[in-house]
Formats: sequence, C-alpha cells, structure tokens
Amino acid sequence: MLNVLLIGNGAREHAIAEAVRRSKQARLFSFMKGNNPGIALLSEAVKIGSYNDMEAVIRFAETHNCTFAVIGPEDPLGNGIVDALREARIPSFGPTKSLARLETSKSFTRELLEKYGIPGNPVFRTFSSLEGVEPFLNQLDGIVIKPDGLTGGKGVMVQGDHFQTKQEALNYCRNTLPGHASVTIEEKLEGEEFSLQCICDGKTVCATPAVQDHKRRFVDDKGPNTGGMGSYSCEDHLLPFLKSRDIADALAITEKVAEALYRETGEYYKGIMYGGFMATKKGVKLIEYNARFADPEAMNILPLLKTDFCAVCQAVIDGTLDQLKVEFEKKATVCKYLVPAGYGLPADHPDAKSASAKISVGGVGTARLYYASVDQRPDGLYMTTSRAIAMVGIAANLPDAEKIAQNAVAAVKGPVDHRPDIGTEALLHKRIMHMKAIRGE
Ligand code: AMP
Ligand code: GLY
Repeated sequence: MLNVLLIGNGAREHAIAEAVRRSKQARLFSFMKGNNPGIALLSEAVKIGSYNDMEAVIRFAETHNCTFAVIGPEDPLGNGIVDALREARIPSFGPTKSLARLETSKSFTRELLEKYGIPGNPVFRTFSSLEGVEPFLNQLDGIVIKPDGLTGGKGVMVQGDHFQTKQEALNYCRNTLPGHASVTIEEKLEGEEFSLQCICDGKTVCATPAVQDHKRRFVDDKGPNTGGMGSYSCEDHLLPFLKSRDIADALAITEKVAEALYRETGEYYKGIMYGGFMATKKGVKLIEYNARFADPEAMNILPLLKTDFCAVCQAVIDGTLDQLKVEFEKKATVCKYLVPAGYGLPADHPDAKSASAKISVGGVGTARLYYASVDQRPDGLYMTTSRAIAMVGIAANLPDAEKIAQNAVAAVKGPVDHRPDIGTEALLHKRIMHMKAIRGE
C-alpha cells in the first residue's frame, strides 16, 4: 500500500487527489491550508495548517507513514518543502527549492535558456538597478516587465494591458526594484498562448495533452487577468490553431531545459515542468515555466490519464520514467470555473461583494466537479473571494465536452459567474483566424 501525502487545497489538487485515488494501491493524506470538501472526502486523514509550517507538514507525513509527497501549489515549492521532506526521507513529486527557480525566478530561466543556447527566448535583459533600463526600453516595440520572485500572478506588467507608455514602464521599474533582486524586461510577443505540462524525472520529459487557458475575466477575452477562468483540450491532444510542429518544438525546448537544469545544478528536476508558450510569427516562444501542474489545465489532463498516476509519481522519483508508457485517453475536455460574481473586479465595484455568499449545487450530469475555494459550513456551501468550483466536461469531441461543462455550470445557484464562451466553436474560430493573421497565411 502506498500512503501519498498531498499538499494543496485547490481544484487542481482535487483533481490530483482523484488521480491518486484511482490507483487501487494508494491511500491519500492531505495537508491543506483550507478545507476542500472534495479532497477531504477522498482522504484517509487531513490536516489544516500553513504550508510554511514545514515541521507540521513533516509531522503529518511521518504520522501517516507517507511513501512520497505530491506538491500542488508553487508557494511550498518556492519555500523548499521538497528539501525539508527529503531531509525527513520522504521523496517528492515536485522540484527542490533550487530547481523551483524555474518558476520563482524569471531571470534564472531566461538566463538558463540563453547560457545553454536553447531557443524560445524573446529579446530580454535583466536589471538589478535602473542603470541601462531606459536605453533598453527604447529598443523595444512592446514591453513586458517581470519582477523576480513569486508575485502571486500579479507582478507581470504587459504594455497595452497594464501600462501604456515607456515612462510608465520606467516608473514601474523604479518602484519595483527596491523590493526585488531584479526585474526582467522583455519584448512583448504577439500570438496565441498554450500550455504544455510535461512530466519530468530529470532525464526523461513526457508531454501531456496541450491545453489552452483563458486568463481574462469576461467573455471574448475582455476584462482583467485572473488565475484562469477555464480551459480546453482536444481529442487529438493538439490545439486547432497550432501546427503539430509547434508542440514538438515546445517539448524539445523543455527537454533541453531539463538537461540544462541538471548541468547547472547537478540535481535532477522531478515533477511537472509546465511551460506557458506562445505560437508567434517567428515560431514557438517561451512565456514562462511553472514548477507545478497548471490550474485549471491540470483538470483537463489528469482525468484523461490512463496510466496509474502513482506509478507515474514513483517513476519520476526513481528516475525510471523512460520505462513507463504514459498514456492519455483520446478525448476532448472543457473546464469552466464558477467564480463569485465579483471575482476580479475592483473592490469599489457594486458586484465585488459576492464573496462568502452561499451557493447550492444541483445535478451536474456526467461532468466532473472539482472544488476550489469554498467553505463547507453546517448550513451549506459558501464561496470565498477566489474561484469556487470547476466543472469539467469530457467527451469524444469538443462540442460535446463543452455542452457537458456548460450544463453543469447551470446547476450551480447563487451569485456566481463563468465564461460561457470557453470551448465553443465561435471562440475556437477566433483563435484560428488570429493565428492565421499572425502567421500571414
Ligand atoms: P501571469 O500568469 O499573471 O504571470 O501573467 C503572465 C502573462 O503575461 C502571460 O500569460 C502572458 O499573457 C503575458 N506575458 C508574459 N510575458 C509575455 C511576453 N514576453 N509577451 C507577451 N505577453 C507576455
Ligand atoms: N494556468 C495558470 C497557472 O496555473 O498559473
């Protein structure tokens, strides 16, 4: 029997928990910072605590004789939970603090690609002081600024979205640099984004189906960026606006990065290398890597995994991924997040108060339901300020998967919102036309 420690309490971790439990030989023990009722139901035991309290995490793992740990979110990875667990002789599906720099330090990753001659970088430079910033800004047509360190998805500033002029870019660098070791300034890329989550044992890199996330809050990609409002994947594991070469290129970049990480640190990267890529006129470019499964995109791929998830984790830990056939069902998936109606709106907006409202969930048909930020109280289910529930439709083709997800969303009553356009033919058509225009076809 395997005793698996899961760290995390979001919908992504609910999907991980389900994948662990599909393995007949596994029992689940979950350390969460808030009680996710879905994860709790699948667990033998849960502990609610802070991810920073590494002693509490290790005590919980030791009490339950955990064989290995699966770490969901980036914060504990960035804080070195894998290193702490390793000292307690508990291996992890997740990288050490040093290797998690792939996500926590934008400059580390850009410089790694440059040093090892790996394609995919935009024009970029890293600055630890304001010296040279202004002339570099003047060389770029479009500007993106990324402070080093985890910024909870709020640190990246994109020209046209978050600021307009070079002077504003300079002011942002001036205000940001005192709080961060450096900022990376790079050329703004134009194209369509896609997510490629790769499983890695440090030597072998195994791609999972490509997914497209939707960061914008409202229909038609309007409104502010969010943690992700939903995502879809197709039955051929490609995306209709991409050429299969684009995904092969993204995988080749990731393979080279895994090798470079080993040469750079002498340690094997174990876990997920989740690349956010952009298909551009000049080929596939790397937006960023994350050192974990994506949220929501984990919910598109984990339910399709035919191979035993615990066997995948074990192969990653043992460094034997080359001997395991990792297979996914050839099905399409659509994930739609239900969020409080006020999610992503400025605090003074009249709708911004829907947080902590009560919701009820009716029949969701064949959809998979994953809980995110909800609070199960004696009198019912309440939302918090974050994304509440993800509904995932899985079917032979995208239109059917979309209908399943959309019908499930309609079963939730309360002051919630979602993006009805995710996974629809109209939205796909827009993506395809956009990419054709970018490629000049
Ligand atoms: P976040 O996930 O909040 O860190 O935001 C990152 C987002 O910023 C990405 O999903 C892209 O949409 C955008 N972004 C980051 N780097 C670039 C770039 N070089 N060119 C264009 N957009 C970028
Ligand atoms: N899909 C966005 C993220 O996981 O960071």
